[in-house]
Amino acid sequence: MKTVLTTSPNEAARFIKKRGIVAFPTETVYGLGANIFDVAAIEKIFTAKKRPFDNPLIAHIQSLDQLENLVSEISEAAEKLIEKFFPGPLTVVLPKANNVPVIATAGLETIGVRMPRNGLAQAFLSECGTPLVAPSANLSGKPSPTTWEAVYEDLADRIDCILKGQTTEIGIESTVVDCTGEIPLILRTGAVTFEDLQKVIPKSKVYEFVESEKQKSPGLKHKHYSPEARVILVDFKEKMDSPGRKAAFIGLEQPIQGFDLVKKCSSYEDYAYSMYEFFRECDRENIETVYCQEIDEKGIGLAVMDRLRRARAK
Ligand code: TXA
Ligand code: MG
Repeated sequence: MKTVLTTSPNEAARFIKKRGIVAFPTETVYGLGANIFDVAAIEKIFTAKKRPFDNPLIAHIQSLDQLENLVSEISEAAEKLIEKFFPGPLTVVLPKANNVPVIATAGLETIGVRMPRNGLAQAFLSECGTPLVAPSANLSGKPSPTTWEAVYEDLADRIDCILKGQTTEIGIESTVVDCTGEIPLILRTGAVTFEDLQKVIPKSKVYEFVESEKQKSPGLKHKHYSPEARVILVDFKEKMDSPGRKAAFIGLEQPIQGFDLVKKCSSYEDYAYSMYEFFRECDRENIETVYCQEIDEKGIGLAVMDRLRRARAK
């Protein structure tokens, strides 16, 4: 199929109505959407991304009344989080309603739901008139796309349409919080920080995967966010060796001479914003090693370090 590029949410929504799949911008990263009630379209998402079928998708809503159709109950904690952080980069995991097809949640009894705050995402969801499931719009294992060009690079002619918007404001995926138990558990860190969540629900915890338990967030066990290059985390205070051939650096400080590609970020937020596109640039330039400066696990720094560690794991 030929992928249609458009800036019109109305034109993009027509592909959803014709049972197709459409990439669209959100404030976190670009998503690849299908009607949540359309099993055949959801299958196309898994095929286009080469995504394992055991990895559940996040439902995207445009209004709170769409939530009622998707979940069977809303805990008190979830209600507080929704009130504070919707619309925005937060996904809440709740018990799923029966009418949500099992393929959407990879057979889980729960569903992750979020309401993007990006204007184009909202206009698109509104034109679609239905909640969409949307994973990040990259090939499975690659860094999530923060530009429409990155979506095109991975998925050209594998999806029906790309709704072209700006570079995404945040640059890493939403915070995922399991709200099905007593204590909200952060399954994936993101721009809504641990500190932000604790202000609303002091008991909130970051979930730590225990080998003997069933993984609560199936997506996290898969390889993620990696450039082709080897990723090395460096503590800037230690003396860095001279870079070898085809080496790149991303971090907050100016590194020593000799790197082929350098991204100096102005803040933790800028690091989050720049990281995935930098990884893609490294691949385009055939970089062999990417040195990434470690930062404190404070604020969005926790999510940046999580993504860097996953990028390193091969
Ligand atoms: O910011 C985002 O969340 C982006 C944009 C497009 O909205 N989407 C995104 O989706 O990152 P994806 O599919 O790349 O990542 C979904 C993550 C996976 O780690 C998955 O395991 C977790 O959310 N997840 C989804 N549903 C879940 C559920 N019912 N229970 C536990 N984890 C869930
Ligand atoms: Mg993803």
